[in-house]
Amino acid sequence: MNRREYLYRMAAVGLLPALSSWMPMENNLIRRRIPRTQESVTAIGVGTWETFDVDSSLTQELEPLREVLTLFASKGGNVIDTSPMYGFAERNVGNLSTEAGINSQLFIATKVWTSGKENGIAQMKDSLQKLKRNKIDLMQIHNLVDWKTHIKTLREWKEKGTIRYIGITHYRENAYPEMETIMKSEPIDFIQVNYNLVDRKAADRLLPLAAEKGLGVIVSQPFGYGRLFDRVKSKALPEWAAEFDCRSWAQFFLKYIISHPAVTCAIPGTGLPAHMLDNIQAAYGRLPDEATRERMVKVI
Ligand SMILES: NC(=O)c1ccc[n+]([C@@H]2O[C@H](COP(=O)([O-])OP(=O)(O)OC[C@H]3O[C@@H](n4cnc5c(N)ncnc54)[C@H](OP(=O)(O)O)[C@@H]3O)[C@@H](O)[C@H]2O)c1
Repeated sequence: MNRREYLYRMAAVGLLPALSSWMPMENNLIRRRIPRTQESVTAIGVGTWETFDVDSSLTQELEPLREVLTLFASKGGNVIDTSPMYGFAERNVGNLSTEAGINSQLFIATKVWTSGKENGIAQMKDSLQKLKRNKIDLMQIHNLVDWKTHIKTLREWKEKGTIRYIGITHYRENAYPEMETIMKSEPIDFIQVNYNLVDRKAADRLLPLAAEKGLGVIVSQPFGYGRLFDRVKSKALPEWAAEFDCRSWAQFFLKYIISHPAVTCAIPGTGLPAHMLDNIQAAYGRLPDEATRERMVKVI
């Protein structure tokens, strides 16, 4: 039994009570308006890199993913981020959400990750088919790959209504200057960038620029690809975390991110229903103020 199966089974028999229980502090899920439109999305979404890359023919292994999606939607969550780069993830999101009857409820963000106009078009058509959609909510240029080519196609697709929003993504600091250039010169709606309690570089220039330009911000790697949990392994959650309705380290990490005024949504990756429930509870209750956010950095 691997770690994932072990945790899933523990949760299923109630041995992860702190995580598997649902204890929102109040009924209002925090939603954020997409700048420039009246539409809003939930401040916590779900990422699918690796976690949703499970062979679509392995029915039993798909059960936790099915549960992640249905629970997420039942708690009011809507943003899900995927990519053709993530193996079976797009197919699983499309199949499982359609079977559960929640596909149309989701705000689906995927990406184009190839070079060349025709390859980009073919890949995006494939994504539409796998995601079982005739319209994608947000199409992002993954890691800026061949962005000068794809941006033209994305503009055309947005005009004809096949995609609703255009975005760009990267997760490396050395790509931030190029992201800035695009944010200043191209008609995009979103950026997706890594930002968390340890990797805070995006807050220097990108996040303020996004706010200035009226761009939505999706935060990837909110747990530093899971590494933030290693930093707090033997640490107790500070008592003052209760002052902003935080009951776990995951919520501590996520509330730090979504309390940044430029952030629209954070997308923690998980394939475990118990972790998804833990994570989405960060979108309930109070958020830390600026002084508390500085205190949070010192803890980590
Ligand atoms: N360039 C790009 O466009 C780019 C780059 C990187 C990431 N992304 C997007 O951002 C998403 C998030 O980033 P990520 O998945 O790399 O890293 P992450 O969200 O920082 O961390 C994911 C890891 O945290 C674990 N985890 C999740 N919730 C937990 C909880 N409550 N308690 C303990 N462990 C927990 C997950 O394992 P379990 O499955 O066991 O919960 C997984 O190992 C990706 O899935 C992807 O959609 C985009």
